[in-house]
Amino acid sequence: MDLSYIFIEKNQIKVNQMNASEINLHEIKSCAENAALKAATEILRLHNDGFLINEKGPANLVTEADLLAEKTIIEQIKLQFPTHSFLGEEAAKAAINEDNLWVIDPIDGTNNFAHGIPHIGISIAYCQKGIPVVGVVYQPFSREMFSAIKNEGATLNDRKISVSKAKNISESVIVTGFHYDFGSHITDSLKAIEVLIQKNCHGIRRFGAASMDLCYVACGRFDGYYELKLCPWDFAAGMLIVKEAGGITRNLFGEELTLNDYKLIATNPQIYEELKEILTEVGAFNK
Ligand code: IPD
Ligand code: CA
Repeated sequence: MDLSYIFIEKNQIKVNQMNASEINLHEIKSCAENAALKAATEILRLHNDGFLINEKGPANLVTEADLLAEKTIIEQIKLQFPTHSFLGEEAAKAAINEDNLWVIDPIDGTNNFAHGIPHIGISIAYCQKGIPVVGVVYQPFSREMFSAIKNEGATLNDRKISVSKAKNISESVIVTGFHYDFGSHITDSLKAIEVLIQKNCHGIRRFGAASMDLCYVACGRFDGYYELKLCPWDFAAGMLIVKEAGGITRNLFGEELTLNDYKLIATNPQIYEELKEILTEVGAFNK
């Protein structure tokens, strides 16, 4: 028997198996990127031509573009993956732990979009058993495509990105956001802003699109982000992109962030403890 032949054959089988799983997630990533680009075309068209706006609740808007973009993304993904499930901000409502789940925010930053402010993210995450393994966030106005595959790093327009190197809050720009309804999360967020200013941080920002806030942390434009009330579609793709760029994403207990959480911190590794301490001090993480 030719043993060397068997050895080579076994190795080849192993290599082929590895490639199969790799190719799968790369295929998923390009499918998500294509779906985001398709949705972007519709969003930009409506931005130019005009669109209808409705209120889901006080200050909580939904536009014609949100609905059309979610429909476009799902239709596009279904062409390639007809059996997969979808959880979207507007219509699709599968459960978080379903297998082969796509979590979609068709326009993150709807209020920006409705007011003509060109800062939004089209956020698409592909999850296995509730864990994002591919994440894509596309900003159609700046044409920036942020992408990540679990354990393979994160990119911005195909170039590797990493979180900042700021060592403490006093050399950081911190971003946050506020949910539409008024509650203790708003007062806690505001108290934290006061402390951050006292600590001479380089700036506080509120840009209005959580998915983009996370991507800006991932590429080092922001050093840290916190928000005290979010939905899974706001952060599913962004959390993976931050982690793959070398950042930290945690929930209110200091545990690894999951899609069941709604309060979160995302930072570079150096400033995590300091930001967490501030949020604990103002009571944000005790509720
Ligand atoms: C909102 C944005 C905003 C954040 C809100 C989100 P939407 O998402 O991400 O930055 O502060 O909590 O609800 O409604 O524009 O998709
Ligand atoms: Ca959102």
